[in-house]
Amino acid sequence: MPFVASGDPTSLTAHLADAFAEAYGVPPAVVARAPGRVNLIGEHTDYNAGLVLPVALPHATYAAVAPRDDGLLRVGSLEESDPWEGSLDAAAGAAGWAAYAAGVLWALREDGLALPGMDVLVHGTVPLGAGLSSSAALECSVAVAACAAARVVLDRERVVDACIRAETEVAGAPTGGMDQTVSMLAGPGTALLIDFDDHTSRPVPLALDDAGLALLVTDTRVSHALVDGGYGERRADCEAAAAALGVPSLRHASRATVEALDDDRVRRRARHVVTEVERVREVVAALEAGDWTAVGARFAESHVSMRDDFEISCPELDLVVGTAVEAGALGARMTGGGFGGSALSLVPLARLDAVVRAVDTAFAAAGFRAPQHLRAEPSGRADLVD
Ligand code: GLA
Repeated sequence: MPFVASGDPTSLTAHLADAFAEAYGVPPAVVARAPGRVNLIGEHTDYNAGLVLPVALPHATYAAVAPRDDGLLRVGSLEESDPWEGSLDAAAGAAGWAAYAAGVLWALREDGLALPGMDVLVHGTVPLGAGLSSSAALECSVAVAACAAARVVLDRERVVDACIRAETEVAGAPTGGMDQTVSMLAGPGTALLIDFDDHTSRPVPLALDDAGLALLVTDTRVSHALVDGGYGERRADCEAAAAALGVPSLRHASRATVEALDDDRVRRRARHVVTEVERVREVVAALEAGDWTAVGARFAESHVSMRDDFEISCPELDLVVGTAVEAGALGARMTGGGFGGSALSLVPLARLDAVVRAVDTAFAAAGFRAPQHLRAEPSGRADLVD
């Protein structure tokens, strides 16, 4: 089965350590890994103080770090060609992919942590640009490794906040915080229910194996980076809806009140958010009752809501969703920010081959680029690698 491999942590770490020694002339002091994520349900709800239910992937970014005593920061990646180098004080000026890595060190220092200069090298298996939070995995892996190298006690909530600041203030990419939170707090075998109103979270067990089911992620390889502005526009519409309704956020609006909004587009955006938060609650209840058919049904409704009301799908995502369900998935939906990226299907193990083949065939027939598939086996949070 042609799944994108998550890789073996021991050999990925050994490879990274060798490359680090070659690049910087010293061995790394520490290596940390942080997972990418796929969201089960609850899309574009995090920045509306809503609920989300993501899962950490086995696919992760690994960061090797060694402290320096001259205040210099050097950041490189085995996946990217342009390393960045500058003084620690200039870290907020890093651009491109390095902004995520250097930016998190800037944000940790802004938060009062005393960090030394460092050499940093990263390497990972989270597909880039697939809507699976390779950027959050990069930020969190660098943060965890940097805290250990600086002998600073790891405060996971502070790291989440620093990673969000790096992404919004240094990389300039708006984020609602779901990706960084799940990368730092997820537990194996579970999804993480996060409430962005009171900022609490709790694990929700996912007994996929017992139910004979798999979570199939299909990367359409349509890059969502091409239409970055769409995310900000959706946020602005949601803020306009909340302002028109006189509530601090759409979390405090109801299905009935949003239907009274005058502007058709703003009303549809708000309807998606309010119904999506309800669907997160329903999926959690269905998971706790072992009712996988209901989970699949909520996936289907979520996709329609994102396609028609929030307007963040695309033909490739719609094709994965339609084809997967026809070939035997219990439900499927686009996942992540949208405008490309990945779809998630809940598939009986006995139908997994057939679903993958059906999607590949449908993409070829439509003249789309061949998609890539991976299995989302719910994995653990960011941590140091021994
Ligand atoms: C991106 C953002 C998240 C979240 C999702 C949509 O992944 O980084 O904060 O808003 O889109 O649910």
